[in-house]
Amino acid sequence: MAQFTLPKNSQYTEGKTWPKPAGASNLQAFRIYRWNPDDGQNPRIDTYYVDRDDCGPMVLDALLWIKNNVDSTLVFRRSCREGICGSCAMNIMGKNTLACTLGIDDCESDTIKIYPLPHMPVIKDLVPDLTSFFAQHASIQPWLQTETAEPETEWRQTPEERSKLDGLYECILCACCTTSCPSYWWNGDRFLGPAALLQAYRWLIDSRDEATGERLDNLHDPFRLYRCHTIMNCANTCPKGLNPAKAIAEIKKMMIARTV
Ligand code: SF4
Ligand code: SF4
Ligand code: FES
Repeated sequence: MAQFTLPKNSQYTEGKTWPKPAGASNLQAFRIYRWNPDDGQNPRIDTYYVDRDDCGPMVLDALLWIKNNVDSTLVFRRSCREGICGSCAMNIMGKNTLACTLGIDDCESDTIKIYPLPHMPVIKDLVPDLTSFFAQHASIQPWLQTETAEPETEWRQTPEERSKLDGLYECILCACCTTSCPSYWWNGDRFLGPAALLQAYRWLIDSRDEATGERLDNLHDPFRLYRCHTIMNCANTCPKGLNPAKAIAEIKKMMIARTV
């Protein structure tokens, strides 16, 4: 196994190298970001070795193996382990993704590097503070808004109307896209970011919703929508294969359509 050193200009310190599991012959190294707000220390990078013969196939399995067998203080979020809840989003080998759907073998490296989602405040270790991210999602009012009287049974859609939600409703709000977006890094306090805007479009395009004008008014602002410069990091990183940049472009088209 390689010896690990951080670059001289690294903002992190070299952390602890934890002992290799006794008797294991099939080892995988992990370099993991650690930061504890209570110890007054700079962030550090710890090195762990996982016994592949005793561990499941996914990166999340390895994190759980480390927590259960090596270092119980390692902190990360997870819930469903099925790519549904979005909790385990983190930066693995330089890409934002879900630890539960990424195979250890798919990383194709003898040293897997894991950091929290970039450019967000860190609560501890691999857990980012998503308070602002979810407040921005709430700001687009992500629920059906209608003025006509409630139907006796349900709000109806044709199959064609329903199909317009495909590629949008699947979003699990993992924040991989938003935290990969350079425009969000620089203007995250005012630009809504790709996840919230994809959700905004999901309601704008819903044939049952009757608040389209108000929704567009809410986005008509130099920052909330128009800071997207079509850099496309969001579409490249989405672990659900969605395309927030396309949704944003569709909102811009709706804005133009109502001014002509
Ligand atoms: S669009 Fe994709 S990356 Fe962005 S929050 Fe939704 S599921 Fe996650
Ligand atoms: S396309 Fe827009 S939202 Fe997506 S990463 Fe680029 S600037 Fe951000
Ligand atoms: S644990 Fe739910 S998406 Fe990974």
